[in-house]
Amino acid sequence: MSSLAGLSSPWTVDVRGLSRSCHAEALFEAFDKLRPGDAMIAVTDHAPRKLFHHLEANHKGQFEWSPLESGPATWRTEVTRREAVPGTLRSIHEALEWDHDRLDARLEAAFGAREREELARAGELFAEFALGLRRHIRFEEELLFPAFEAHTGQPPHTGPTGVMRAEHREIEALLEALAEAASLPGQAAEVLREDLVRILGWHNQKEEGVLYPQIDESVGDIEKDALIGRFQAS
Ligand SMILES: [Fe+2]
Ligand SMILES: [Fe+2]
Repeated sequence: MSSLAGLSSPWTVDVRGLSRSCHAEALFEAFDKLRPGDAMIAVTDHAPRKLFHHLEANHKGQFEWSPLESGPATWRTEVTRREAVPGTLRSIHEALEWDHDRLDARLEAAFGAREREELARAGELFAEFALGLRRHIRFEEELLFPAFEAHTGQPPHTGPTGVMRAEHREIEALLEALAEAASLPGQAAEVLREDLVRILGWHNQKEEGVLYPQIDESVGDIEKDALIGRFQAS
């Protein structure tokens, strides 16, 4: 078993060879063996909905759920155990700051693989990073920002969320350019990465320092927890 930081040797629980009736049990047991801070990667040949619903029902607030690959043949999902009593409500700042840090670590791991000239591995890690960042942005724009705007009356295009939306477009353009460059030799990827890290750094700082605390203040505890539940389910 390894922590999130141990990207090169995560504990992989591959249940693709097991029958449908056995795979869910195997994943539930694997989660029970995790200590707080430990992570596992569940590898399945279908979306692991049973595991997700089991964790929601029995370990609410005690896990992070991060898709790394979403089909069509293989699903890989990183599940991290949190130090929390069952039923702990989540808030926006802590949950999304954790996801920012997770994504930063994955981007760094992708470029670490490039430095070791493992270009195929760099491409895989970058794809995991891009999947996670696109999911994060989608959640913010489709669910989180609209909830904040509804509570505060802030306009979606000119207020603080409008600035974040515009920055998301810049981030997505860099993600697209990097998708190809990440697994190719040459300096193009490093130049694009510098731009991405700079924009993402400012962006995340503004969200963590200003916007997320404002959202935590303006949205009720149950609604915030439900929003994070929908983020995890996405
Ligand atoms: Fe954002
Ligand atoms: Fe964010």
